[in-house]
Amino acid sequence: MEERSLGPGAPDVTCVGFGGMPLSVAARPDPRESVRVLHAALDAGMTLIDTADVYCLGDDDIGHNERLVAKALREWTGDADRIVVATKGGMTRPAGGWDSDARPERLRAACEASLKALGTDVIDLYQLHRVDPEVPLEDSVGALADLKAEGKIRAVGLSNVSVSEIRRASEIVRISSVQNRLSPFFREALEGGVVDYTEGEGIGFLAYSPVGGGRLNLKLPDHPIVASIAREKGISAHAVVLAWVLGKAPNVIVIPGARTTAHALDSVAAADVRLTPGEVKAIDEAEFSLA
Ligand SMILES: NC(=O)c1ccc[n+]([C@@H]2O[C@H](COP(=O)([O-])OP(=O)(O)OC[C@H]3O[C@@H](n4cnc5c(N)ncnc54)[C@H](OP(=O)(O)O)[C@@H]3O)[C@@H](O)[C@H]2O)c1
Repeated sequence: MEERSLGPGAPDVTCVGFGGMPLSVAARPDPRESVRVLHAALDAGMTLIDTADVYCLGDDDIGHNERLVAKALREWTGDADRIVVATKGGMTRPAGGWDSDARPERLRAACEASLKALGTDVIDLYQLHRVDPEVPLEDSVGALADLKAEGKIRAVGLSNVSVSEIRRASEIVRISSVQNRLSPFFREALEGGVVDYTEGEGIGFLAYSPVGGGRLNLKLPDHPIVASIAREKGISAHAVVLAWVLGKAPNVIVIPGARTTAHALDSVAAADVRLTPGEVKAIDEAEFSLA
C-alpha cells in the first residue's frame, strides 16, 4: 500500500490507517471479534492504528481501545514493531459523555495511563485530543513538549485545531501531525485552510470520520453521484469516498473505523483507487445531506 509521511519526526505509514473508536464505544463487538478485525487490517498491510484513552464506554472504562490494540499487537504473528500506534489525551468520558481536561497535570497522568494500557515505554504519536476551552493551548502543548523531552512520546500531534492553533503550538514543540474531520459531508478542514497549511508545512493530516462517521456513512451507497462512480469502477461507495479524501493532498492519511473484517479490507482496497478529475469534480460539487 502507498505510504505517506506522518509528519516531521514521525515515520511513514500506509495512507489508509485503522481508526479504533468503533471497536470500543457503544455497539462495540465482542473483544475476540475486535482482535480479528485488527489482525485482518494488519495482515492486509495497514501500518497505522489510531486510538485514544477515551475510546471506551465511560470514565471507569478508560483505555479500553488502547488495551485492545495492545492485545491485538501482542497476539499478531506479523512484525508488530513496524506498526505505528497513535493515541490521544485531553478528554474524559463522564457518565459516557465527552468532556475536556487538558490541564498539564491531567495530560501527564493520561499519558502515563496510556503507556500502561498500550504496554509500551514510548508512544509513537501522542495527540492533544482537542483544545480545552478552560486551559490555555500553550499550557497543554507545553505538557506534551515535556513528555517528549522525557522520552515518553516520540512525536506530538494535535486534533480538532485551526491554523492559528497549529501555529501557536508549533512555537512550543515540533508538531508532526494534525487530526481533523474530513469527508464529503464535512469539509471545514479544506475550507478553513488546515489541509493546505499542513501540506505546506510538511505536517501529516489524519482525516478522521473520512466516510462521514457511524451514521452518515450508511447513506453513501444511496448517494447518486458516489453510487454511480462506484458502479462504474466496480468498487464500494465507501472506497470512492476514501479515494476522494486521499486525493485532497499528498499529506492526507485516512483512518476509517470498522467493526467488521469486510469493512476494514474494503478500506484497504481504497488505497489503490484513482478517481478521474471529472469524478473528483462531480463529488466536489455534489450535495451531501446531513439529514
Ligand atoms: N480526533 C477526533 O476527535 C476523532 C473523532 C472521531 C473519530 N476519530 C478517529 O477517526 C476514526 C474514524 O472515524 P469514525 O469511526 O467516527 O467514522 P468513519 O470512519 O467515517 O465511519 C465509521 C463507520 O463506517 C463504516 N465503514 C468504514 N469503512 C467502511 C467501508 N469501507 N465499507 C463499509 N463501511 C465502512 C464502519 O461501519 P462498521 O462499524 O459497521 O464496520 C465504521 O464503523 C475513529 O475510529 C477514530 O480513530 C477521531
